[in-house]
Amino acid sequence: MSAGPGEPRAAGHAGGSAGGPGPHAPPDRPAYLLGGTAPGAAERMAALAAVFDGWTRDHLARVGLQPGWRCWEVGAGGPSVARWLASGVAPDGHVVATDVDVTWLAGITEPNVTVLRHDVTTERPPALGLDLVHARLLLVHLPDRSAALRAMAGALRPGGWLVVEDADPGLQPRSSLDPAGPADDLANRLREGFRALLAERGADLAFGRTLPRRLRELGLRDVQADAYLPLSVTACATIESATVAMLRDELVRRGVATEAEIDDHLRAVAAGQLDLAQPPLVTAWGRRPGG
Ligand SMILES: C[S@@+](CC[C@H](N)C(=O)[O-])C[C@H]1O[C@@H](n2cnc3c(N)ncnc32)[C@H](O)[C@@H]1O
Repeated sequence: MSAGPGEPRAAGHAGGSAGGPGPHAPPDRPAYLLGGTAPGAAERMAALAAVFDGWTRDHLARVGLQPGWRCWEVGAGGPSVARWLASGVAPDGHVVATDVDVTWLAGITEPNVTVLRHDVTTERPPALGLDLVHARLLLVHLPDRSAALRAMAGALRPGGWLVVEDADPGLQPRSSLDPAGPADDLANRLREGFRALLAERGADLAFGRTLPRRLRELGLRDVQADAYLPLSVTACATIESATVAMLRDELVRRGVATEAEIDDHLRAVAAGQLDLAQPPLVTAWGRRPGG
């Protein structure tokens, strides 16, 4: 990344797509279960933004986001949070948006955003001395999540804020919290199958609740956390249908549901017949001492 006015200080290594290999490089890290350009992936990413961006923005504003800040959006996924950060730090601030798959960041045209392909588990931070590092729905999926969190905290300036948001499906595992009939039971069975797939890939389904402790253990100060539980938000239906469509073959192969049941479920979701919850999103924030 080239350094420009207001851009984060480079992390002391040559660029390439992002930072060079860090000390932690698991040789056969499982791929992110819902990544890539499979049909439904774009809709899923947009729906995550529709459900969670308002909550995320409130928290980023709460830690004092302001013009001039230098930020790292880690595992950015879609463009919405990076763009919103860019408008909040303009004209002199800068945002580095990184992901192992930058497909959905291609449309970012804001001059104060740098998009980098970067693996937070194996590469050094793309910049140091940052005012804000933010990640949402990233670490829960990563086998090497502790090292990634440490690397993110290490990229802060003294006084800089780390804001980490992750799901905790163990706190609320169901899709339907009000199972009033067979369609709700099927929705919950499919969600159980999805959780099993996530766990097999190394996801920690009780991770969100650990965030405030982890931030304190990293030496951060003023650590707080809260959680958001979407119970029946319109875009949750899109997350559900895209997720089930993406995992359909695997769910059928494992005997979680038949093809016909999955078709029934997708029809019920499309018809708005179900109140579909998402797991709670735990948001934790803390700042590096000093500054
Ligand atoms: C569930 S999506 C969340 C996207 C976005 N942060 C959001 O909340 O809408 C997880 C994202 O993490 C990215 N990801 C997975 N493993 C990663 C890694 N090792 N380093 C960086 N990004 C990664 C995926 O490509 C995907 O975009």
